[in-house]
Amino acid sequence: MDVSRRTLIVGGTSAIVGAGVGAGVGAGVTGLVSTERTGPVLWQRGDRSGAPRVGGLHLQYGADASTEVVVSWHTASAVCNPRILFGTPDDGLGQSAAAETVSYRDAASNTEVLVHHARLAHLAPDTDYVYAAVHDGASPELGTARTAPRGRSALRFTSFGDQSTPTLDALVASAFGSDNRGSPAAGDVTTAVERARPLFNLVNGDLCYANLSSDRIRTWSDWFENSSRSARHRPWMPAAGNHENELGNGPIGYGAYQAYFALPDSGSDPELRGLWYGFTAGSVRVISLSNDDICYQDGGNSYVRGYSGGAQKRWLEVELERTRRNGDIDWIVVCMHQTAVSTGNRTNGADLGIREDWLPLFDRFGVDLIVCGHEHHYERSHPIRGVLPTDTLTPATVDTHPTQIDTSKGTVHLVIGGGGTSIPSNKMFFPQPRCRVLTSVGGVDPATGQRIPNYIEEPAAWSAFRDPVNPYGFVAFDVDPGKPGGMTTMAATYYAVHGPFGEVTPVDRFTLTRPRRGG
Ligand SMILES: [Fe+2]
Repeated sequence: MDVSRRTLIVGGTSAIVGAGVGAGVGAGVTGLVSTERTGPVLWQRGDRSGAPRVGGLHLQYGADASTEVVVSWHTASAVCNPRILFGTPDDGLGQSAAAETVSYRDAASNTEVLVHHARLAHLAPDTDYVYAAVHDGASPELGTARTAPRGRSALRFTSFGDQSTPTLDALVASAFGSDNRGSPAAGDVTTAVERARPLFNLVNGDLCYANLSSDRIRTWSDWFENSSRSARHRPWMPAAGNHENELGNGPIGYGAYQAYFALPDSGSDPELRGLWYGFTAGSVRVISLSNDDICYQDGGNSYVRGYSGGAQKRWLEVELERTRRNGDIDWIVVCMHQTAVSTGNRTNGADLGIREDWLPLFDRFGVDLIVCGHEHHYERSHPIRGVLPTDTLTPATVDTHPTQIDTSKGTVHLVIGGGGTSIPSNKMFFPQPRCRVLTSVGGVDPATGQRIPNYIEEPAAWSAFRDPVNPYGFVAFDVDPGKPGGMTTMAATYYAVHGPFGEVTPVDRFTLTRPRRGG
């Protein structure tokens, strides 16, 4: 019998499909059963019921990171019985928690994405857990989670922003070019962060640039496929950046971001859910802000300055006052996107809105550390408190020691925006530290559809360290609670990231100190 190899493969596939995989998978395989193909045919086996796979598995902390973790994943179609099986490594997956499903419909593609969030509460502090995320018919995806210690304990966290998605771009062929601002470094940074094994990672906004992409859904999916390698083991806690603002998605453009992440409840109106929040890990209170609310720059798909009507600022004041009154908290760390300080030239610059609305509160309540992005490089300020007598509210430097900083005297700002984009700005620093402050916007530029920014340039005496060499990297922070009556410290290292194996080079090391409170 003269039967070609191709016929055998096609016939075999058809037989398997017909034998009982089911209509859902059979329909998908039909396209593969083609006499046009010349090579071996890959038979894509669906889950047994044709259920969608568990995609983009990731974690978030609840408001109390020592007892609450949310496990999240997304699908492109409805699923039954989404749930988490979990337990400790010794006891196995003996417990379960049902997931709540939320959805958004992307206005650009009219595609609905369903996101499943399972909240694990009443966990034991400082404890490892194992879990499986699953819905009916799907193969489970596995992950691990560690709760934060309760009270004053050592812990490590990391931070960077402006990641985008791993992309080879035109190196492959012009036909495979990307419009989502990605680079291979976006994958390398994930690998490097995972090697550092932090308790959690802060993502300082502009996660994937879906709002610039012709395919928003794919861009979000690509970002989660990349970040899930780390974020299924440790929460990547985000701040919303201007590129999370997507025209038509949700009441003010953050509908995708708000669906993908289940973040601690700040008591905001439901339509503003998750845009600002706080959580506690050990003696650290992390506060995540949404700076599009107060920035002058028109940087998203729509201009939303003032969207909360002052609600975010009112919340921040109460949050900071309550946190500084709490004797169990030593450190206040703010994660946000746009910056109050930058020595980049021809970049976004610093935004006067942050200096007007946030910095007086940071001063009043003694915020220790700001991590932000928006500028695609690394730089660090001296501790700053108060302002010089300028129209731009230039931050006043309170100390200039290069590496030992008492943050009870002033707040240190870090710009950590080298998360992986194809447009780094480490070659765009002013030769001597100067700052372009975006002070207002004018009429709409017909070329961009965005309001034209107005800048004032000024000296930047607050500038402590800049990295003009390395485009990509992240910062690791090691909190040492210290002894009663003494100082607590936070040792920080900015690591440049090189290559696909997450190789790192320490570039900037410094130590934050402050008197330990309470016992
Ligand atoms: Fe940005």
